[in-house]
Amino acid sequence: MSELSVEHLLGIKYLKSSDIDIIFKTADHFKEVINRPIKKVPSLRDITIANLFFENSTRTKLSFELAEKRLSADVINFSASQSSVKKGETLIDTVNNILAMKVDIVVMRHASVGSGVFLSRHVDAKIINAGDGTHEHPTQALLDSYSIREKLGNVKGKKIVIIGDILHSRVALSNIFALQLQGAKVKVCGPTTLIPKYISSLGVEVENNLKKALEWCDVANVLRVQHERMDIKYFPSTREYTQLFGINQEILDNLGKKIVIMHPGPINRGVEITSDVADSNDSIILNQVENGVAVRMAVIYLLAQQVKR
Ligand code: CP
Repeated sequence: MSELSVEHLLGIKYLKSSDIDIIFKTADHFKEVINRPIKKVPSLRDITIANLFFENSTRTKLSFELAEKRLSADVINFSASQSSVKKGETLIDTVNNILAMKVDIVVMRHASVGSGVFLSRHVDAKIINAGDGTHEHPTQALLDSYSIREKLGNVKGKKIVIIGDILHSRVALSNIFALQLQGAKVKVCGPTTLIPKYISSLGVEVENNLKKALEWCDVANVLRVQHERMDIKYFPSTREYTQLFGINQEILDNLGKKIVIMHPGPINRGVEITSDVADSNDSIILNQVENGVAVRMAVIYLLAQQVKR
């Protein structure tokens, strides 16, 4: 297998399209592995990985931990709410103390934009960004593209609309970079207040009309409204948001064509998507979760090849 062009996975914006090809080819192999009766390989028996989560997570944290265990790495888990961060310890001190225990790879989720880049400049370990504030969530974007590739055969030339709270979404930004790198066309759809002003500079079109956005696309990636990152009101009410931007079966039935429905989770059922759509045959939401393990195994495996042993 070939080598990645990067030393860390800090964001999709640092990757080349050839990196994505290498990650997907490696993930294809690991997807086959995790569907075997014995789902584990001994590849990383000499590697220790620390999962540092300074923000809440269900899918990403469990998916990384499972990926690491499937590769036979030693794993330690850190959650900020139960740590000495509460006693005033800095990020660098926290991480250097963990690295003193001979850790090779750090997977980190943190509320601060650029925290992964900062860490990569100050500590001697491979860094994987598991979400830095409203900035990037590279493994989510990789597993999303991998899932589109699996469902539609290719990402190149496909039309993807990302719907919802684009302003506060690291998933949106990483998806835009990943999809464009692979030759997809990307639009965003949502309330004007939740679309960042810089979006057109990324070559992304804005469509505020949900029906038109869905008529245009092959794939709709639906995002949650991130109330926890909002200190002001961005739209009058949740009821109005759902009426204008919520995906329901009636809207999809009236399109006259099938589209693929995605969501990175966590879902707010009945707000941005109804339960019947989330659980329908057009939805690949749980395929995204399954593919997340294979894609994260690939990223960890490829970065671990660069660790001096
Ligand atoms: N998709 C995602 O990042 O989910 P979690 O916040 O549960 O990890």
